[in-house]
Order: sequence, then structure tokens, then C-alpha cells
Amino acid sequence: MARFTIADLAAWKKAGKKWPMLTSYDAVTASVFDEAGIPVLLVGDSAGNNFLGEENTIPVTVDELIPLARAVVRGSKNALVVADLPFGSYEVNPEQALQTGIRFLKEAKAHAVKLEGGVRVTEQIKTLVKHGVPVMGHLGMTPQSVNAFGGFKVQGRNESGDEILADALALQEAGCFAIVLELVPAQLADRITAALKIPTIGIGAGIACDAQVLVWTDLMGLTEKPPRFAKAYKNLRTEMIDGVRSWMAEVENGVFPGEAQTFH
Ligand code: KIV
Repeated sequence: MARFTIADLAAWKKAGKKWPMLTSYDAVTASVFDEAGIPVLLVGDSAGNNFLGEENTIPVTVDELIPLARAVVRGSKNALVVADLPFGSYEVNPEQALQTGIRFLKEAKAHAVKLEGGVRVTEQIKTLVKHGVPVMGHLGMTPQSVNAFGGFKVQGRNESGDEILADALALQEAGCFAIVLELVPAQLADRITAALKIPTIGIGAGIACDAQVLVWTDLMGLTEKPPRFAKAYKNLRTEMIDGVRSWMAEVENGVFPGEAQTFH
């Protein structure tokens, strides 16, 4: 089977088919999520707080993210792999965005990039798309602007919702193939989804979006304090602590390695 493409996502929007996107930061989880059938893997800059031990996504660099994206591409066979352009790697001008986008496609072999912002980044998007770099947009509570927002707060309540809708239309016009809507009221996400020809991907944005995305450590119950919009389908943190403690006990009691793990 060939990899999913942005043409599949466009067809699913037309057909009203909903789909999931999941973050991944390494080849092992990429192969598991790919085998499970996830069609789109996001190498998010959420690697900052979920993988690299940073407080948030702001310190993540292109040089840190490219090896992770390359690992996700190598670990998957069918998924479309989208890589985040980290904070500071595209805002300056369209040329900067293009240079960074090209690095992700050439060095990581990612299939598309994602960047944050509305009207202010449309020239960057047009330049990337013109040169063959597919772009996913990201609106609402965009984590790279957490300092400007003064925390992780729902965006687009009341009249600022109209501004987010205008941004979404501008991103579509600029050539984005999909848009992530993060932490916005469900009613606004519904309006935007109905107004767009391209798919919306919700995270804390209600049920109306065409697709949903979650950070994999939240989905699997590995995150210590998950956000309210996440739902844990497994309790991997407890499972892993149990597993590690069982092994520790066997090592300490002289039970591991047993006969099955021993060579003669
Ligand atoms: O970096 C990330 O994981 C993201 C998702 C939350 C959409 O941008």
C-alpha cells in the first residue's frame, strides 16, 4: 500500500469521512501507530514538552526536530508525515520559511509541514506551496504564542471568533491543505469547518471538525497532567512503572535472567 497523500484528505472532506492524526517523535511509535492504521502522523514541536523535557514548544529548534521527523518517516510505511516548523524558523519572511520547509522535505523526507498563525503568515504559505511544500495551518490557541496569550486559554470566544474564521479563510486561500484548530469553542470550529473546502483538524475544538489530533502520550495515559481536551485510552504510565518494578524486583532477587534468557 502506498502512503496516504493530501489528495486523500481532500477526498475525505468531500465524502464527509472523519479521520485521526496522532503525534509521533520516533521510529518505534511511528511503526506502531502506522500498523494501527493512523493515516497522518504529526512530528509536532510538542516534542519540546513531551520528548525533550522542555517547559513548552518555544525552545525547540529545526536541528532538534529534523532527526525526529526522519525517524518517524523511517518507522512508518503508510502514513503521511507532517513536520512542525518550530518557533523562529519561518516568521521572519517567506524565504526563511521556504528554506526551513525544504530542509524538512530533503533531510527528514517529511511529506508536508505545519506552521502557526493566520493572515500574518499567508505570504510564507504561498511561497512554500508554490515551491512544492504542502502546508498545514494551525489556528486558535497556537502554543508558540503562549507568552502572548498569557497561558493556555480558549481562543475565539465572542467577536475574536470572527477573526479566527477570517484567518482560516485566508489560510485556505493561501494554499493550506488542512488547518488544525486548537482550543476554540465547538460552535466556532463548527462554523469554520462548514465554511472551508479543506479539512479542519480539532484538538480541544469539539466534535464538528473533519479530523481530530491528539498528542500520543496523552492518548496513552503517559502524561502526568493531561489537558482537559485529551482522553486517555490506555494507562501506559502505570503499566510501564509496573513493568519496570517487576524487572527490578527480579534483578534484585536474583531471578532474572532465567533459563530462557541464558546461553550455555
Ligand atoms: O505540536 C503538536 O503536537 C501540535 C498539535 C497539538 C496539533 O501542534
